Formats: sequence, structure tokens, C-alpha cells
Amino acid sequence: MANETKGYENSNINWYPGHMTSARRMMEENIKLIDIVIEILDARIPYSSRNPDIDNLAKNKFRLVILNKKDMADNKVTESWIRYYKEKGITCLALDARNRSSVSKIMTTVSEVCKEKIERDRKKGIQNRPIKAMIVGIPNSGKSTFINSFAGKTYAKTGNKPGVTRGKQWIRAGKGMELLDTPGILWPKFEDQKVGINLAITGAINDNILDMGEISYSLIKYMQNNYCQVLTERYKISDGMGADEAFSSIAEVRKCMKKGGEPDYDRAARIVIDDFRSLKLGNVSLERPEDIGE
Ligand code: G4P
Repeated sequence: MANETKGYENSNINWYPGHMTSARRMMEENIKLIDIVIEILDARIPYSSRNPDIDNLAKNKFRLVILNKKDMADNKVTESWIRYYKEKGITCLALDARNRSSVSKIMTTVSEVCKEKIERDRKKGIQNRPIKAMIVGIPNSGKSTFINSFAGKTYAKTGNKPGVTRGKQWIRAGKGMELLDTPGILWPKFEDQKVGINLAITGAINDNILDMGEISYSLIKYMQNNYCQVLTERYKISDGMGADEAFSSIAEVRKCMKKGGEPDYDRAARIVIDDFRSLKLGNVSLERPEDIGE
């Protein structure tokens, strides 16, 4: 697995040190303008989709963590992540960013998180000053989807109005909030090989540069330990089956054969990943709070 210093390609961006520096610089500039940082994580991999540098970049700002793609994750595990963040004093909620009505409801949570600021404004006699927010997250976590859902019908770039300074574009969301229309892009942290694999399984890294066999095997192993029933039903893989046996079973069940009748392991590996991403393996979370150290 390549690492951060060598650079790494994911679905949107090639992450080389230069790109990370400019992403960081852009975030540092924008963060000065905002009250609250809304951090978008993939609910299936809240650990791997998180860049811990955000703690430093967003210090002294109000924070909200969103476990996005909750429709793809295991509900029970998502709830345990929400408890995990709550214990750390961070407000966290699960969301399907494609769902406009759920996204609009987060306004209430944002007001709760920012209540100190609202109170401070009130004491100064300032009323209804909108809360300024920025969305941050690694590529593919759902930032653009969230912004589009949030903007909804009230989508209005304040910068387009006459007399408003050009430059930053803000999206109005009702009366109480303005969202910076450019999300802060965080770079994934690849130091841990497991992180790279989990990002790959969920599609956050470009498939062309991956060893599908390796990531597929890793998924099967994880599912044997955590969601074995699904594998048994779908591909006749049982608990404790080795990699070769498991792939042979998938190849047989899904009729992946080469010309001479040999199992086509590459196709079998691809099928497992496609099935995972299209939820044919059900709602699966790849990381649990108890698996990660402090
Ligand atoms: P980004 O800006 O952080 O890079 O992510 P983006 O919003 O582009 O979302 C990446 C992919 O994830 C998109 O799918 C998007 O539709 C999907 N997505 C975002 N939020 C959710 C969610 O809560 N649930 C589910 N199931 N999917 C979500 P795509 O296939 O890359 O694009 P498209 O075919 O949907 O246009």
C-alpha cells in the first residue's frame, strides 16, 4: 500500500504533499470566516474516513460530526459511534445526505452546538446573525451531496447580490445559517494499511490502482468474523474457510470460470466488492469504536 509521503490517488484527487499543503492552506483561510465546522465521515468507516488533523485546523470552532451514508451502514454500529463521540463531548448524528428533509433538520442541532455564540450575540444586542458553517471531509464522503440537499429551494449565493463583496460564496439555509459553498477537502491518512484497505472497499480510492484480490479478501475475512451469515447465504462461504476456498466458492456460485474451466478469481473478487458497494451484502459497517485504540 502506498503511503502519504509517496502520494496516493483516490477517486477525485492525486494526493501528493503539494496538494495537501494547498488543501490545508485553503482550509486555514476559510476556517477564519466560520463559526462551525461540519465534518462529514462515511458511517461505514468513521475511523478511516477521518483525518485527525481537523482537530488542529478547527480548534476554537464549534464542531459537528456527521456519519453520512447511514443508509449503507449497520445501524447498531452507527449508534455505538454516536455514543463514542458523545462520550468525547462531540455532537454527532447519522444522516443520508441525499435526503433533503433530514439534512434541513440539522439546523436545530447546529443551533444547539452554537448556543454559546448565539447567547454572546444576544448579549451584544445582535439578533439573528446567521451561523456560518463549513463542510469538511475526505473526497467521496458526501460533501457536495450534503451542500446540494442543504441548499434546497432556498439556494441563494449571497455573493451574487449587488453590493456584496465578491469572493467567498455563501449558501443561505433559512434565516439562521449560511454555508460556505466550497467544502474543505481533507486528505485521507494512509499510514495504517487497514485504513487504505477500508477506503478502497468503500470506493474512496480509485479502483484502477488497487489489487482487487487483496481488498476483496480483506472484506471476506472481516465479514466471516462479523457478518458470516450473509456470506454463507450469498456465496456459500462458511466461518473459518480459507481464502482459496472462499474465492473458489464465489467463483462457482457466481459462475466465474475461465475458458479451460479454471475459476476466475479476479472476477470473483470484483463481484464481492460490487456486491458490497451496491448493498447486496446488506448494511455493513467495517469499523467499530471498540476496534480502534485511543
Ligand atoms: P464529495 O463531495 O465528498 O466528494 O462526495 P459526493 O457528494 O460527490 O458523494 C460521493 C458519492 O456518494 C455520490 O455517489 C453520492 O451520491 C453518494 N452519497 C453521498 N451521500 C450519500 C448518502 O448519504 N447515502 C448514499 N447511499 N450515497 C451517498 P456517486 O455514485 O459517486 O455519484 P452519483 O451517481 O450519485 O451522482
